[in-house]
Amino acid sequence: MSANPTSTQEANEPTGELVIKNIAMPKNTNRYRDIFGGWLVSQMDLGGAVLAHKCSRNRMTTVAIDRMVFLQPVYVGDVVCCYASISKRGNTSVTIEVEVWVERLLDNTKHKVTEGLFTFVAIDDKGKPTPIIWQC
Ligand SMILES: CC(C)(COP(=O)(O)OP(=O)(O)OC[C@H]1O[C@@H](n2cnc3c(N)ncnc32)[C@H](O)[C@@H]1OP(=O)(O)O)[C@@H](O)C(=O)NCCC(=O)NCCS
Repeated sequence: MSANPTSTQEANEPTGELVIKNIAMPKNTNRYRDIFGGWLVSQMDLGGAVLAHKCSRNRMTTVAIDRMVFLQPVYVGDVVCCYASISKRGNTSVTIEVEVWVERLLDNTKHKVTEGLFTFVAIDDKGKPTPIIWQC
């Protein structure tokens, strides 16, 4: 059974701003030499954090990852591109939609492979939630 399609899966172009571009390397594979999902999630967390830090002056921490879906496999050599956009602005939190697209240079194609919602909370120097000081 294939992964549940979402409203944006059929889109031909990514939503959001490009926050990370990286190449999937052999060191990012599992024992079957497929790209390890945890590596992809860490790229998405970093990508979401790039936008969270661009938009707020606070120290931020990840509190939740929701609606994570792996739509297609990622292969060694794929150019992994994370796109991020703000989905919800809260008082101390911001929820960021992160999409991952891969570029396959050999056949010049682009595919959406993963998406998820990452929520970041602004924290003070004691690690407690604090209102976000928006700058975007
Ligand atoms: C993030 C943390 C400071 C939040 O503390 P807390 O006491 O649970 O915070 P609150 O209940 O006051 O919620 C703070 C904000 O987070 C949001 N939030 C809390 N849990 C959430 C969840 N599961 N999903 C989405 N948002 C959530 C709240 O809605 C609130 O947002 P708002 O102010 O914009 O309305 C605390 O849970 C923590 O330190 N977690 C560990 C974070 C971490 O180490 N991350 C890295 C993982 S390696």
